[in-house]
Amino acid sequence: MKQRVLSGMRPSGKLHLGHLHGALSNWVELQKNYECFYFVADWHALTTEYEKTDKIKQDSVDMVIDWLSVGLDPEKSTIFVQSKLLEHAELHLLLSMITPLSWLERCPTYKEQLKEIKTRDIHTYGFLGYPVLQAADILIYKADNVPVGEDQLPHLELTREIARRFNSFYGNVLIEPKALLTKTPRIPGTDGRKMSKSYNNCIYLSDTPEIISKKISSYITDPARIHATDMGHPDICGIFPLQEIYCENHNEIAENCKKGTIGCVKCKKLLAEKIIKSLEPIHKKQQEIKNNRHLINDVLHKGNQKAKVIVEKTMLEVRKSLKLWNME
Ligand code: TRP
Ligand code: SF4
Repeated sequence: MKQRVLSGMRPSGKLHLGHLHGALSNWVELQKNYECFYFVADWHALTTEYEKTDKIKQDSVDMVIDWLSVGLDPEKSTIFVQSKLLEHAELHLLLSMITPLSWLERCPTYKEQLKEIKTRDIHTYGFLGYPVLQAADILIYKADNVPVGEDQLPHLELTREIARRFNSFYGNVLIEPKALLTKTPRIPGTDGRKMSKSYNNCIYLSDTPEIISKKISSYITDPARIHATDMGHPDICGIFPLQEIYCENHNEIAENCKKGTIGCVKCKKLLAEKIIKSLEPIHKKQQEIKNNRHLINDVLHKGNQKAKVIVEKTMLEVRKSLKLWNME
């Protein structure tokens, strides 16, 4: 029996290279050895976007198009939408009863975001409960492994604590999941900051070759390099982390940069060519998907049905263990 993997992503619309190298390529890889469940966390989007919800659905569709285009395979993985599985909400409610407030208030992501997010009021019950909903998402599938980035580790630890508390009260029903920590290379955007939609500095998986070339040439590089022969510092250049991913001979590039024997224009041109080439099959797939109007709907419908069987089963056990009504 294969171990089960589960992960979710908030609907962020079309995806960029940061998503690809941060999570997606790992998700694709995991399909080989695990029974995988990947879902659109659209309720989680509401924790911050509750005032303006009109883009969430289209963003979900665009995101799933990109999931499939990079190789998530609906024959291998169950791909579904959180809000179509009402049982997640039921488990979330039950877990909220046993989760001490102090566990939520000490969450680093909670504290940081309260400080950072100034454009929306997130002093809500739902936002505080974000990790409880996430725990429900995970525990309801009895997932063995959850691939997450470092920033999500506290959420996973909380999930394990909630599972333990539940089991100590009601009997052994839930499984404590393990984190599969994804090694995430730093992917800088055009301005040198972390690639992120909110910074408007992204290279999207759907960008055309022309746009990619333009964006790459606009990257901030080592400011000390004014002439192509100036000695450079790849370690502070926004381009170099991408060279490390895309160019096999990045060591040579680094040497030449340091010696001043390669100019930034040339270096960027080499990189753009590699990225464009690597996105070719992805663009082809995106086109195929867009030409097949029903595909995304069909994939999600099937995925929702497969997920439904599992969540129903878990919830029967959960209700039974709490001695609640079970209409079988
Ligand atoms: N919090 C995750 C993120 O922001 C999304 C998420 C929701 C998730 N539920 C999950 C991830 C369950 C893993 C497992 O990316
Ligand atoms: Fe960056 Fe390449 Fe220019 Fe060096 S040569 S500073 S690695 S763009």
